[in-house]
Amino acid sequence: MCGIIGYTGHRPALPIVLEGLEHLEYRGYDSAGVGYVLNKELTVVRTKGKLKNLRDAVSTTGSALTVTCAIGHTRWATHGIPEERNAHPHVCADKSLAIVHNGIIENYLEIKEELLAAGYSFYSDTDTEVLVNLIHFLRAKENDLLGAFSKALARANGTYAVCLIDVSNPGTLYAARKSAPLILGRGVGESFIASDVPAFLAYTREVVFLEDGEILVAEPEKHTIYRIADGCTVKRSSQLIQWGMQAAQKGGYRHFMLKEIFEQPRVLKDCLTGRINAQGNIVLPELENVAPPNRIHIIACGTSYHAGLWGQHLLEDLAQIPVSVEIASEFRYKERFLPDKNDLVLVISQSGETADTLAALERAKKEKIATLGLCNVVGSSLAREADTVIYTQAGPEISVASTKAMTSQMLMLCTLALFFARKKGLIDKRQRTLAKTLSSLAVLLEAQLPNMHRRAQSLARKYAEARSFFYLGRGHCFPLALEGALKLKELSYIHAEGYAAGEMKHGPIALIDSAFPTFVLAMNDSLYPKIRSNVVEIQSREGHIIALTNPETDIDVDDRWEIPRIIDPLQAFLILPCLQLFSYEMADFLGKDVDQPRNLAKSVTVE
Ligand code: G6P
Repeated sequence: MCGIIGYTGHRPALPIVLEGLEHLEYRGYDSAGVGYVLNKELTVVRTKGKLKNLRDAVSTTGSALTVTCAIGHTRWATHGIPEERNAHPHVCADKSLAIVHNGIIENYLEIKEELLAAGYSFYSDTDTEVLVNLIHFLRAKENDLLGAFSKALARANGTYAVCLIDVSNPGTLYAARKSAPLILGRGVGESFIASDVPAFLAYTREVVFLEDGEILVAEPEKHTIYRIADGCTVKRSSQLIQWGMQAAQKGGYRHFMLKEIFEQPRVLKDCLTGRINAQGNIVLPELENVAPPNRIHIIACGTSYHAGLWGQHLLEDLAQIPVSVEIASEFRYKERFLPDKNDLVLVISQSGETADTLAALERAKKEKIATLGLCNVVGSSLAREADTVIYTQAGPEISVASTKAMTSQMLMLCTLALFFARKKGLIDKRQRTLAKTLSSLAVLLEAQLPNMHRRAQSLARKYAEARSFFYLGRGHCFPLALEGALKLKELSYIHAEGYAAGEMKHGPIALIDSAFPTFVLAMNDSLYPKIRSNVVEIQSREGHIIALTNPETDIDVDDRWEIPRIIDPLQAFLILPCLQLFSYEMADFLGKDVDQPRNLAKSVTVE
């Protein structure tokens, strides 16, 4: 949510900042801007709309080429509508400071009142403009920017990642974070500050993760980290990012989303590497010293929440552990959370930066319950805060709509269920077959994807005029129905609802008519007779149906979409890509912006 980049070094800064913003655009794209100091004056260029508008507005030639330090921002609006005046950077009263900000300063109105009383004026609706003026106000008193920055941050409630430049010190970047990501990239004679690694990955893989409560001062040749609380410096070693630029590019695909769907066989392979030993047992060294919990509380948002719902079936079925699954924004404020000391809180997040999920994790930690994070981003807040972390290893996911990350989360949840089952002495023949089948999933999916894609294309053309869709499933297919509906609305803006098929007759079926199609997950499993009856009920009301099913079934619907039958619940690994491809093709056919759907952001760092 909002992308920040700062550069200081020996190269022209503006092309680097614009290139960095391109890699961060997935975080927000309603307006963008850059700020830099040229001839002892602060210049800020901001435009409404996508980054392309900013590119057209920013000069990167002539004297602008001599600029070697700059900040940039791509916005997802929180305070103030997407207009140029609300875009970042924001500058203070005398134009000596410019700041870019991701997050929300919750007490900005109170601070604004005080600054108004002190004679300040405001030109935007943002909390960010208040923050930069607060820094200016405090600095005017003491003439110490670092001190003023620390005091202003100590005053600000909420979440933030900020990067600041000062006209009197043009080669230096000042940055800080609180519950929002901010990473330093260290090059030779150059420093980068960004919300996410791809913003500077073309230049360096050496990174330093900033912590909450710290201020980073970055110059071309060096950087210093200060603790806000006592002003002491902090030593932190750098880490090397293991993946390269290629992983963060489209690689010949029309969209990142399509590339990421097609990467899923590779993701399945990578996630399983080293996870099954010669005896066919699941190996999770991260949990070797953790006893199987009495209960598991899964907490997540969005697609990760759906992965959690799917995982609940497996953990209960295979490991016989009772599981509750909650939406993080609900869990964090629930009046009572009554865990036992042998419970485990499992937080799932692709980014590891989702504000509600982090708050839920914090609450669980306060209750002194063991926490396990399932996360895709190394060094993310979640990875650092959870007692134990299992990385999902899906690689960078750029498309706003999550695809391969969910596959990786489901795979790890499956291994987790099998792991706890073994620890509890529950491994039987079925579980051995499951473990074995896991290893063959990648090859199977790889072979199926081209057919799946073709079928999705033809169905999308037939159903593109629908204004609403139901997605139905039962058992472990129900969470997948929820995810199918989420994908369709996210990408194509078609209203879609996921339902437990048996629940249709308790109200939703009233909506069915010939213009309201249903996408049914009708696998040849023990619940197949039930779902077939639900389908007949819909057909009796003239509802049209796409049924994702196995060749062995006899379901008679408008459109059968057959996929090979594999052992439950691993069937999900073939169902999910079909749902993703259908939504992708619907959106693409309707001319929607697949990788950056309207109003959404990849990483939601505000509540
Ligand atoms: C946003 C994204 C979704 C994602 C959700 C949770 O809403 O658009 O695709 O599922 O956040 O993100 P997380 O990184 O916590 O899995």
